[in-house]
Parts: sequence; C-alpha cells; structure tokens
Amino acid sequence: MLRLVNLTKSFGGVKAVDNVSVDFKPGRITSLIGPNGAGKTTLFNLISGFLKPDKGEILLEVEMWKMENRSERQEDRSKKQEARSKRREDRSEMLEVRGKELEAGSKGLEVRSKKMENRKWKIEARSTKQEDRSIEQIKIHQMKPFEIAQLGIGRLFQDVRVFKKLRSIDNVILGAEKLAGENPLEAVFLNHKVRKYERGIIEKAKEVLDFVELKDKTESYGEDLSYGQQKLLALARLLFGNYDVLLLDEPTAGVNPAMIDKILSIIKDMAKRMNKMVIVIEHNMNVVYKISDWVYFMNEGAITAFGLPDDVLGNEEVKRLYIGL
Ligand SMILES: Nc1ncnc2c1ncn2[C@@H]1O[C@H](COP(=O)(O)OP(=O)(O)O)[C@@H](O)[C@H]1O
Ligand SMILES: [Mg+2]
Repeated sequence: MLRLVNLTKSFGGVKAVDNVSVDFKPGRITSLIGPNGAGKTTLFNLISGFLKPDKGEILLEVEMWKMENRSERQEDRSKKQEARSKRREDRSEMLEVRGKELEAGSKGLEVRSKKMENRKWKIEARSTKQEDRSIEQIKIHQMKPFEIAQLGIGRLFQDVRVFKKLRSIDNVILGAEKLAGENPLEAVFLNHKVRKYERGIIEKAKEVLDFVELKDKTESYGEDLSYGQQKLLALARLLFGNYDVLLLDEPTAGVNPAMIDKILSIIKDMAKRMNKMVIVIEHNMNVVYKISDWVYFMNEGAITAFGLPDDVLGNEEVKRLYIGL
C-alpha cells in the first residue's frame, strides 16, 4: 500500500498539488488523468522524492529487510556520501553527463567484478528466504530519491531516457542501477575492451528483455530502436530493478497503435501477474478505459472525481474540463 495523506505542494502562488489523499494498492492499475498543469507530474515527483511536500505525508508499506539493507548500505557509504553530497544533489543530471562521456568512450567497458558482486548480492537479497518479511508503514516523504527507489518505487519518465550509444542489455543493467540511485558508471572502466558482468546479472537482463519482447534487440544500440521500443526498454529496466511500485508517466505517448497494445499488455502483466502497484499518467482515453482498475481525475492540484473508468470518463465535470465534450 502506498498512501498519500493531505499532500500539498505549491510553486510560488500556484498550488500544484492541493491536499491530495489517496491510497494505492498492489496488483491494481490506477490511472491519473487531467488537463495540462493539473499537478499529475508534480504528484509523481513528490512520490519519488524529487520534490518535498509543503504539507502532508507519503506512507509506504515496506518489508523490513529492505530497511535493513538500506541502513547497512548507508553506514558503509556515509563517509563517501558526505564528500559527494553536493554533487549528488543533482544526481540524475550528473549521471546523464557521465553517460554521455561513457557513450563517447564506449569502445567497450568493463565492470569491476567486486562491485558487481555487491550488486549480485543485492539482487539475491531480494529473493532469499530468511529475510524479514514483516511489513511496516514507513514515511518516505523526507527521503532522497535513491532511497525511495531502493524501497521499491520505480519510475518511467515522460521523456524516455535511454543511452543511445549503449546496447539494450547495457541500458537495462546500467539504467536500472541509475534509477535505483546508484552510480553505475563509477564501476565502469572505460579503457577496457570487453564488457564483463556477473553471469546472473546478464541472465536477468536477458530475461527482462525477453519479457518485453526485445530479445532480438539485446545487442542493438539505443539509437537503433524505435521510440516505442525505447519505451519497452525503459520498462525492461524497471523490471530489472524489481520495483514493487511503478510510476509510469505517459507510457504510450508518441507510440504507434500496435506498439501501444504491446506496452499495455506488459503493464497489465506487471500488475496482474507480478502483483505490482501501477500508477499511470495517461492522456489517451482508450488506454485509460482498457487498463485502469481505478481512475483519479485531477484539476488545479486537487482530485475532483474518482472511480471506475466508466464513471469518471462519463462524469460531466470531467467531460467539460478535460475531454472537451
Ligand atoms: N518545478 C516547477 N516550478 C514551478 N512551477 C511548477 C514546477 N513544476 C510544476 N509547476 C507548476 O505546477 C502546476 C502543475 O504542473 P504539473 O505537475 O507538471 O502538471 P501536469 O503534469 O498535470 O501537466 C503547473 O501550474 C506548473 O506550471
Ligand atoms: Mg505532466
């Protein structure tokens, strides 16, 4: 369960998110609709920690072993982190730059195996039996984006962010780590000729590429994928990251109809077969009809209608303000 309580965020005089209280549940696809400027993306930014709320709380039910891993890792790193805290403030931007450097120098790259062992441990840690499965509600609204990602909240950005000069498989591995807030590129030697990952990691990356039907593009470079395929790649990355909560900002925008169906079926599988909590910002009303278990309509920062897709899309206010009928 992900719970937003009286969440409020203003920019200057504009209440971008105005006293929003919502519960999201695993296994369900919830759509967030509303006109431009309604506050949908701001809501995602609050949940994923890129923005801090002025008021209100965000609570996430977390299995306790994730918190333990988190604090252990934090202790290990606290010194290093202090030294780099300034640069981390805009971590994603920095990684974007480093990614470009990597692309520029990417004749080949090698990942230091020791670092990768840690990663392997991380992946295994998610599946070991003796971990503490008890669940507690954690306040996440003061946490940093990478901490929130480590607790299982992943995001698909509106502007798909794939490394164009890297192969799909590297995009999955490096990209997922990036979204999890790691700095994968620290672990990369640019001057080696061969890419070496732990075998388990490669297998898992191939598995998720297969799942999104990009198996035959494993070795293709980001730039050689269609826009829709890049979105699939970004979904593969989210799968690789093992997130429990997926925030998808316009997953079908700019994608051709055949590809839309493929993306929708993957999103449905993530919710229904993998029991993930899926929250989608979506402008295509057909898509909203097809995939949503529940719909929230946002206008001027507030949720003013919610319910089953039929009810919300048939609502007079929604039609007047949004659908334009
Ligand atoms: N970083 C920001 N700084 C200032 N105003 C912002 C910022 N982000 C969003 N806003 C404003 O907040 C409101 C909601 O924006 P947004 O969340 O992007 O809406 P939506 O995603 O529903 O189109 C808009 O009025 C927008 O201009
Ligand atoms: Mg938006």
